[in-house]
Amino acid sequence: MTTTPNPVRNVRFEIHRSDSPVPADRRAQLVADPGFGQVFTDHMITIRWSAEQGWHDAQLRPYGPLQLDPATAVLHYSQSIFEGFKAYHQDSGGVKTFRPDANARRFNRSAARLALPALPEEIFVEAADLLIQNDREWVPTAEEHSLYIRPFMFATEVFLGVRPAREYLFIVLASPAGAYFAKGVKPVSVWLSEDYVRAAPGGTGEAKCGGNYAASLVAQQQAADNGCDQVVWLDAAEHRQVEEMGGMNLFFVYGSEEREVTLVTPELTGTLLPGVTRDSLLTLGREMGYKVEERRVSVDEWRRDLGSGNLTEAFACGTAAVITPVGEVKSATGGFVVRDGQPGPITMKLRRMLLDIQHGRVPDQHGWLHAVV
Ligand code: COI
Repeated sequence: MTTTPNPVRNVRFEIHRSDSPVPADRRAQLVADPGFGQVFTDHMITIRWSAEQGWHDAQLRPYGPLQLDPATAVLHYSQSIFEGFKAYHQDSGGVKTFRPDANARRFNRSAARLALPALPEEIFVEAADLLIQNDREWVPTAEEHSLYIRPFMFATEVFLGVRPAREYLFIVLASPAGAYFAKGVKPVSVWLSEDYVRAAPGGTGEAKCGGNYAASLVAQQQAADNGCDQVVWLDAAEHRQVEEMGGMNLFFVYGSEEREVTLVTPELTGTLLPGVTRDSLLTLGREMGYKVEERRVSVDEWRRDLGSGNLTEAFACGTAAVITPVGEVKSATGGFVVRDGQPGPITMKLRRMLLDIQHGRVPDQHGWLHAVV
């Protein structure tokens, strides 16, 4: 978007450590029961970009509020993107992140779609490493807990014209995280949204931008009003093909361990978010001897194959909640129950395998773990 030579190789982080970090006993309390997205560590990373200077002014600094002019572009036109990945305490000691390079690549694909500048992948990863190293005491050690890393970037130019901004801020936050869903790994009920769509061809569906999530809230509210935990998005043209659940990708399990297992997930058509967990599960599924298919799945097929017994399980996956079984499907025209609302064995096996890799309990055969501490 600019022809300014990228001076990123000259980016050096200035370190400004907090002189009032959270006291150790209070931190231990917070880390023991963090919930999701409510507790933040002592520091954050900030790096500025301008059309004149490229990436510059990289800092590790105390976590704290930003001061923004009311005419800051992002507050008006939502030119902003984000990512999410996790740092895991390793059973053998140390801390590792899971596939941060994959998130860095997706961040840049989102940046390209929203007309933001690209951030070199090594800076993205280095920024997260620096934050985690400085705030390592905040990495939870409890089972199912982790340190959620939230990199994001937004337009900071003070300007109300509609065009790509000429100034941006990249920030990384870290947040100790427990279960994403308050009820843990219990199956969720989902509402098939026929009134709203998440994404249409040519839109921003495959980008991780704030606007996608803002536009989803009313549908999520409708799901809740109909007694469901989550919304399931259907395709924009016909409202028949299953796309995603809330902000997560979906998988369908055909068959069983006794017969043959096939994992089916909606193919990436440009309207779905290409999840890192989705991609990892496709690889793990193959290695576990399952067939895997990326193809369209319609609601009719879901209902029919469940009825015939061919489709045995359904689950959603994402960084925040890992794998969440789907137990019940409702829509304006009726509903159906998956597996009597119980989690399926293949779902739970995949979940266990992924968590075992992330916590270093089984060999990391794909080089997915990145050592930080
Ligand atoms: C994830 O599944 O990791 C998500 O993207 C959810 C996040 C927006 C909280």
